[in-house]
Amino acid sequence: MTGRYNVLVIGGGGREHALVWKLRQSPLLGKIFCAPGNGGISAIAGTFSLPPGFAGLKKIVEEKDIDLIIVGPEQPLAEGITDYFEKEGVRIFGPGRKAAMLEGSKVFAKNFMKKYSVPTADFEVFDDRKKAEEYLKAKKDPVIKADGLCAGKGVILSGSFDEGSDALKKFMEDRIFGAAGERVVIEDRLKGEEASILVFVSGENYSFMVPSQDHKAVYEGDKGPNTGGMGAYAPTSLVNDSVMKRIEDRIMKPVLGGLASEGIGYSGVLYLGLMVESGDPRVLEFNVRFGDPETEVVLPMMKNDLLEAVLSLMNEEKAGLSWKGGACLDVVLASEGYPGEYKKGVKIDIRQDAIPEDVMIFHAGTVIKDGGIYTSGGRVLNVAATGDDIEDAREKVYGALAGINFEGMYYRGDIGWKELLRKKR
Ligand SMILES: Nc1ncnc2c1ncn2[C@@H]1O[C@H](COP(=O)(O)OP(=O)(O)OP(=O)(O)O)[C@@H](O)[C@H]1O
Ligand SMILES: [Mg+2]
Repeated sequence: MTGRYNVLVIGGGGREHALVWKLRQSPLLGKIFCAPGNGGISAIAGTFSLPPGFAGLKKIVEEKDIDLIIVGPEQPLAEGITDYFEKEGVRIFGPGRKAAMLEGSKVFAKNFMKKYSVPTADFEVFDDRKKAEEYLKAKKDPVIKADGLCAGKGVILSGSFDEGSDALKKFMEDRIFGAAGERVVIEDRLKGEEASILVFVSGENYSFMVPSQDHKAVYEGDKGPNTGGMGAYAPTSLVNDSVMKRIEDRIMKPVLGGLASEGIGYSGVLYLGLMVESGDPRVLEFNVRFGDPETEVVLPMMKNDLLEAVLSLMNEEKAGLSWKGGACLDVVLASEGYPGEYKKGVKIDIRQDAIPEDVMIFHAGTVIKDGGIYTSGGRVLNVAATGDDIEDAREKVYGALAGINFEGMYYRGDIGWKELLRKKR
């Protein structure tokens, strides 16, 4: 691969900061831009706000002589950004609208898994609230999922009939998520431990990235409501070689076979959200993009040149991924009150001298104003480090937190706890 490529990353969170950070290590990189970006990204890439509609973005892509677009979040993918730019002859990495339905519609994903025998929880689909309530009565602790995209807030693990029917009312009658909640999936609650597998996919070609584990719940010990993710680590020994083999045979191959049978092409990252019980993996969900915060721990472990890997994939070549030894861990610093109400515009104090060289800070919800950094989201910063093992990485990250502060800063002190327990056994 020769020449230089000007790259545009779409998005503005910790995932995109990690993508920009990794892409900048490539000798193939020309200029790099990120839209909308955030405070941290604006220090290492050109940033601009996303114009409404793809036609407006196309103008900017031409003006800035962009050679490749990499899409971070799911919303533009579900809206067909890839279909649009492919038609315009612009190279873009991310699945088209049809393939993005694997994330864009829980109903589509579950029916797809049923049709192609991909292991997942038993489920029923409802567009009638009364019938859904009847079904709830017969179920113990079911999981209720709004069909469409709800930014990670559309899943309720109901502990009682009242909780479940309250969720149905909110989704289907109060329409708190609009059309996304018109249909719901009600599925059995699975036991086990969760793992995330990011996979580079290009047609029939696929390359697994190192398995990782997120921490969805806001409080330590995995207590409290779900969030977008409070931290992650990679690799996770929950996914050993035999589990990985089962994931490949029972999930990845049937999924790709199913997409081919449906005539749905896939080029991009497929995220497998799995529940693993006694070594048996089942699919909780698909996302059609890099996960956040998983990306912040997976990319630092990747030996490959990310830009080269993406370009090879787009040429339908295998990426041939290789991984560093040791481990990487990431802790999310959030605003007080997240995932509920939280304040924005809080000044962030980072004492650079207290942050070791090998500790990375990936910004999520931040803005730069008058030379200062301020909070602008629920998840504010990611602090990540690689180490000889998870203990080493963890020590580096939690040690560095002494150099970061903002009013109401909240983080979980137990990221990686299940891996540490497993290692003790
Ligand atoms: N069948 C299930 N059994 C047990 N827990 C479940 C089940 N389905 C979902 N969960 C829990 O709810 C979380 C969110 O569910 P899911 O991943 O389907 O939703 P999402 O809103 O698309 O999440 P994300 O923001 O990660 O994309 C899971 O990470 C898991 O903790
Ligand atoms: Mg999802």
